[in-house]
Amino acid sequence: MIAPLASLRRAAVSLALVVAAASASAAPPPPPQMGFNNWNSTHCRDDFNEAMIRGIADQFVSLGLRDAGYRYVNIDDCWANWQRDNHGRLEANPKRFPSGIKALADYIHQRGLKFGLYSSAGTSTCEPLRENRGFPGGLGHEKQDAATFASWGVDYLKYDNCNNQKIDARQRYTAMAEALRATGRPVFYSVCEWGSNQPWLWAGKPPVSAGSWRTTDDITDSYASMLKIFRQNVVLDRYASPGHWNDPDMLEVGNGGMTDTEYRSHFSLWSIMAAPLLIGTDLRTIKPDALRILLNREVIAVDQDPLGVQGKQVRDAGGIHVIVKPLKDGSRAVAVFNENDTARDVTASAAELGLQTGGRYTVRDLWAHTQRTGDGALTLRLPAHATAMYRISALGA
Ligand code: GLA
Repeated sequence: MIAPLASLRRAAVSLALVVAAASASAAPPPPPQMGFNNWNSTHCRDDFNEAMIRGIADQFVSLGLRDAGYRYVNIDDCWANWQRDNHGRLEANPKRFPSGIKALADYIHQRGLKFGLYSSAGTSTCEPLRENRGFPGGLGHEKQDAATFASWGVDYLKYDNCNNQKIDARQRYTAMAEALRATGRPVFYSVCEWGSNQPWLWAGKPPVSAGSWRTTDDITDSYASMLKIFRQNVVLDRYASPGHWNDPDMLEVGNGGMTDTEYRSHFSLWSIMAAPLLIGTDLRTIKPDALRILLNREVIAVDQDPLGVQGKQVRDAGGIHVIVKPLKDGSRAVAVFNENDTARDVTASAAELGLQTGGRYTVRDLWAHTQRTGDGALTLRLPAHATAMYRISALGA
């Protein structure tokens, strides 16, 4: 029997809807977040204020950072008033942010950027207590605070771990996750519990479903600190997955405590580890050399690659680290890092890099921006503390 035309049309329409729904739900999970946070450059100093953050948003546009993929302008601890208002609501510190947080978020949104805020899953945040009181934390106030954040236009929450009253971490981070979801506003959830309760085992999964979780204590602007954090984070590769990332803390590039070689290592290693790229230097006074590091699009592309795999360390011997990250187009990113205080000659075979032996490859140097063809093996001399980074693709692929 021939189906009437109307019912055929209905069937076609419903098929189209099913296909559309399937492709909408197949939207790729987001790559590691990119943006800025003031903490590493200002801590709680008075120059962390409205004028600074507006200036940073302006710099995102004028320096080309927005075009390079940096999106979030985030503010850290010390933004809040010492007390909640009469209705128990969080308020901005009126000296630092006289126009309030909503106005700041609007300013940032008007520039095509997103806005992030900070709180702690405790009774108060991490800055030292004053008069026996710290800045108010979110513990026990999750629903009200999440609603406040959503009403201000917050797109990102970094949720810290201080003054947590020893309440189970999963419970505390779940409470805020659920409160954020209940607002209906998509808010990137950045869990900051310093790796204390192995968050890589639970923070990326329901019901917390965080976008990222800190894996270590705070970074400081020194080579020793960067190295220590890299070592802790690089072995956690199997716990990262698309949309759910290990977070070895924010970047120090540009803050002056490391050499440019060390800052290039810092940026390379964070990118091969698919880490969040959160700039931690004052972009209003950044030097050209530091900016060039942060704007290296070939390295950024490794961090942001849509396959969403954290690089795996295939060698850790004699202070030489080789990390390999498979990429969506079938090529591989490779970082070779010399943690030693003197130069080293390094070789790595195609097999060690996971490449088929006997093949022909394009080997692109992501810092020199040059390429050559070869069998995929690497032979290089690395200065002290330096990292070389490559993208290796099969010829003709
Ligand atoms: C903790 C966090 C840091 C920063 C400070 C703010 O130490 O780990 O990243 O947010 O608190 O007080």
